[in-house]
This record gives sequence, structure tokens and C-alpha cells, in this order.
Amino acid sequence: MERVVAAAWDAINGKLMKPSISPLHRQYQDSSNFRKRAALVGRFSTNRYSWYRWVYDQFYPLPDDAAVLELGCGPGSLWKRNLDRIPVNWKIVLSDFSAGMLRDCQQNLGSAVSRFLSCQLDASRLPFRAARFDAVIANMMFYHVEDRAAALRDIRRVLRADGHFYATTTGTEYMRELNAVATRILQVPRYAPSAQRFGLENGIEQLRAEFANVELRRYENELRVNEVQPLIDYFASMEPLIAPRAERWDELRDYFQRQIDERGEIVIPIEVGMLIAHL
Ligand SMILES: C[S@@+](CC[C@H](N)C(=O)[O-])C[C@H]1O[C@@H](n2cnc3c(N)ncnc32)[C@H](O)[C@@H]1O
Repeated sequence: MERVVAAAWDAINGKLMKPSISPLHRQYQDSSNFRKRAALVGRFSTNRYSWYRWVYDQFYPLPDDAAVLELGCGPGSLWKRNLDRIPVNWKIVLSDFSAGMLRDCQQNLGSAVSRFLSCQLDASRLPFRAARFDAVIANMMFYHVEDRAAALRDIRRVLRADGHFYATTTGTEYMRELNAVATRILQVPRYAPSAQRFGLENGIEQLRAEFANVELRRYENELRVNEVQPLIDYFASMEPLIAPRAERWDELRDYFQRQIDERGEIVIPIEVGMLIAHL
């Protein structure tokens, strides 16, 4: 009874709030932030072979009726960019923890959407029976998963014995200098770089906890950027993971402009690749 009364008072005093949503969930409420970052890479990459085509190229041959699970599918670009070559009988489950992302994904796939199943889930708890999938894909998302050990146990559980787990990620050189400069000028402690959590270097060891075999394949790329605004948009799209004071943006803009005036362009290393794990 006392608890009920206390709760009633808290409600009246405005203390009972909706469960707070984490910065990561806010960042990925829909695909708008992710699309801004993808736009920078899409426009200024020196490697003109599409990243998403390359990711698909790496898959080992799969049965005609393969079952495939993508974790953290975002706007579904991997499938959108490969629609012309996905076998008609594949059963593909596109999953993400963000309902907004899944909505954008459905929209992005347009009339092809009926070829895919969609599922809202957290990658560390997979609601599927054991040995259900021939392939599980985590494209630029596994570094976001807090409990990667639990996720890997579950990924192994849902994979068939001859299945593969495909995880793309960044290396330690990925945008290193650019991130360091932005962190200094924006005066924000940067969200730990993805490669520090699960990268091309330390990811191999993490995967070996569950999978006997892990191979690394690299996608060579760098950006040559000669405009300031796309760089500003890139960092602005990371809010609320970073939250600088307003005037700091002007300083960052001036810095990029000076660099471009002096050198004509800013060269940014894009160290990325794929780790392929199997039993
Ligand atoms: C950088 S985006 C990559 C999107 C897509 N895979 C691509 O490469 O185009 C990361 C995605 O992972 C999702 N995500 C992050 N953590 C997740 C988790 N623990 N479980 C499921 N999805 C997650 C985000 O909502 C977002 O859509």
C-alpha cells in the first residue's frame, strides 16, 4: 500500500518518467543520421566498386533455398544494392533493434519488400531456434553490441554447422586523424572508436571464442574530400553520441576550410573489411 501511495505521489510530482532512451537508440531512431554518414563515403570514395556489392561478393556459395539473417540491417542497403542477384528462394530475415530503421528499410526496398521478413530484435538475444540459418550477417554494426560474448554464443547457436557469420567492421586507421582533430576542436570525449570495441584487429580474437576459423578480407578505400559541408554533416550526424557546444562547429568548419584551401583536398583513410567466422 505504501508503495502504491509513494508511486502516486511520484506521478503527481512528475517523477515517473517514460523509460529513458539511450544515446545509441536516439542516434538510430531512424535512418537519417546513418544516411548522412553514408553520403560522405558514397560521394568521396576513391574505390568506385560499391561497398555493398563487395560485401555480397564475399559470401560463400549458399543453397538455392538458403536462410539468411542480417543483424542491424539499417535501411536495408545491402539488399537494395544487390536485388538483381538475390536468388528468389532465399529466406532473408532483416532485423534491427530500431523500429524506425525497420520502417525506413521497408520503404527503401520498395516493391521488393515482400521478398524479405522483418524482425525487431537486439542482436544479443536472438528469438530463433537452433541451426536455423545458413548465414548471419552483421554489416558495420557488431561494435555497437554491448554484450558481444552473448551475441556470439547466440549467433553460433542459430547457425547451421556449415554456416558462416559475416561481420564487417573498421580497422584502427579508419578516419583516425580526422576523428582526433574533430575530438580536439569540438572538445567532446569521442564515443570510443568502433575498432577499439570490435575491429579488424581485435575482432578475430573475439570471434575465436565461438568459432574455430576466422578469416579477414580487406576492402581498400580512402576518401578525398574537397568540400567542407559534408564533413560537418558527418560529425553533426553523430549527435547525441557527441554533443559539442554550438560555437565549436564554426571552429571545425574553419579548420576544414583552411586544410582544403592549403592542400586542395583532405585525404581520409577508410580502413574497413570483413571477418568471416565458421566452425
Ligand atoms: C551503422 S548502422 C549499419 C546499417 C546497415 N547494416 C548498413 O551497413 O547499411 C548500424 C545499425 O545497427 C543497428 N543496431 C545497433 N545496435 C544493435 C543491436 N544491439 N541489435 C540490433 N541492431 C542494432 C542500428 O539501429 C543501425 O541500424
